[in-house]
Amino acid sequence: MAQVITAPRVPAAPRLAPGEVHVWHVGLAGAASPAAIACLADGEVSRASRFAFERDRRRYVRARSALRALLGRYLGLLPAEVPISYGRHGKPRVAARVPLEFNVTHSGERALIAVCRHAALGVDIEMVDRSRPIADLARDVFTDAEIGELEAAPGDAAIAFHACWSRKEAFLKALGLGLTLAPREVHVGTRPDRRHVPSSASARIEVATLFADETAAAAIAVVGGFTEATRLEA
Ligand SMILES: CC(C)(COP(=O)(O)OP(=O)(O)OC[C@H]1O[C@@H](n2cnc3c(N)ncnc32)[C@H](O)[C@@H]1OP(=O)(O)O)[C@@H](O)C(=O)NCCC(=O)NCCS
Repeated sequence: MAQVITAPRVPAAPRLAPGEVHVWHVGLAGAASPAAIACLADGEVSRASRFAFERDRRRYVRARSALRALLGRYLGLLPAEVPISYGRHGKPRVAARVPLEFNVTHSGERALIAVCRHAALGVDIEMVDRSRPIADLARDVFTDAEIGELEAAPGDAAIAFHACWSRKEAFLKALGLGLTLAPREVHVGTRPDRRHVPSSASARIEVATLFADETAAAAIAVVGGFTEATRLEA
């Protein structure tokens, strides 16, 4: 009798070890494919239709369909089957009792999707914008110590500013609280180190800069900490 070999429905994701974070880099340039549009849930389609600019609609569809495809690979589901729900302040999560956490960030034509199994996490990317009045902005959202670090930064102050901003956003996104927590109350530092930051909402959150260069700065924050962050291309 002939043996029937069934092909897997979705390609498996790389092995995600306990404590590890996968950081997927996703390019958003170019048109969204029909398959990308077809995998979206009704709420995502209506959200896409509300963007005023075609460019923003395209980027949203590309990022959301990439998210669905990646989560599907960890869950063994087709992109359209991945159940996504939202927290009180809009943080998306997998709507199933499975150990899989994720967070998304996008800026320009780049998106990062961070995934882990063990804890809530946040990720943020900021394009380095040299037209920003960094001293004024820092006074609004940085701690006094961070302002001091920025003023004393040995290298490019704009990079140090965006590195700190991305660390802060990643911290806030890990908690899923949005801006209900004042950025000025959280000290994450401007240096690209790994550090545990105390939080009243959670025991501790480990914050780490992923990269900070002339173009962009990005960071992750993981409730309770992580072992390593692995960069992957989607
Ligand atoms: C929405 C927010 C969570 C991040 O916004 P952002 O930095 O502009 O955008 P990002 O691309 O990094 O993140 C957006 C993604 O985060 C996710 N997200 C939405 N609400 C979230 C929340 N409460 N917590 C964590 N993640 C959230 C979503 O996946 C969203 O992508 P989607 O719209 O395609 O679904 C929120 O923190 C915000 O409005 N920030 C304003 C920026 C600011 O003033 N920061 C002060 C300096 S520290």
